[in-house]
Amino acid sequence: MKQMINIALPKGRLGEKVYAMFETAGFECPSIKEPGRKLIFENEEVGVRYFWVKPSDVAIYVERGAADIGIAGKDILLEYKPDVYELLDLGIGKCRMAVAAKKNFRDDTEKTLRVATKFTNIAREYYAGKCRDIDIIHLNGSIELAPILGLSDVIVDIVETGTTLLENDLEPIETIVPISARVIANKANFKFKSEKIEEMIKGLSSVLR
Ligand code: PRP
Repeated sequence: MKQMINIALPKGRLGEKVYAMFETAGFECPSIKEPGRKLIFENEEVGVRYFWVKPSDVAIYVERGAADIGIAGKDILLEYKPDVYELLDLGIGKCRMAVAAKKNFRDDTEKTLRVATKFTNIAREYYAGKCRDIDIIHLNGSIELAPILGLSDVIVDIVETGTTLLENDLEPIETIVPISARVIANKANFKFKSEKIEEMIKGLSSVLR
């Protein structure tokens, strides 16, 4: 039986772009385009099995070996530090992790800075590097509300077009790190499927060029 590579794709617009790249690279799976709610698709001839995963869960599937490879945002990799190989930067899903605040915000370094974010580890590490005392407020979404309602002084969040900040009278004040989509691989599975996985990475790299 042919060796199958299990690939966790992030559900959504980014995942569709990623699948198109795999398809162009020669790892097509036509059934994935059929309408419906199915989550798993395979093409035995080419040796691929794709599944749609919530974007923030991709790294979990790969780290635990349920997927051999997957596509995860650098934000997730920095926040959760999964024990996986990072094989390729796909150069899509580009955005940045930034600090943002209300337009008239002035940082009073005498006071503990209240930081609202979903990315508590990234925020902690960033401010530790600046020796700045902070109080982390962990939120799950609509982070932009926090400074407006006085819940926090600043937020640490993803900025793509900047529209969300603009429409809520906030502005980016510092960039922490640029973000893009990365191909990651399970460390053990990579060992015994290395030939096929490397062939995929080569194919994807030439699509990028
Ligand atoms: C992200 C982020 C911002 C927004 C930034 O949220 O949290 O709210 O995108 O994009 P922009 O700069 O183009 O306006 P996302 O839509 O990913 O959903 P989330 O609230 O679940 O994080």
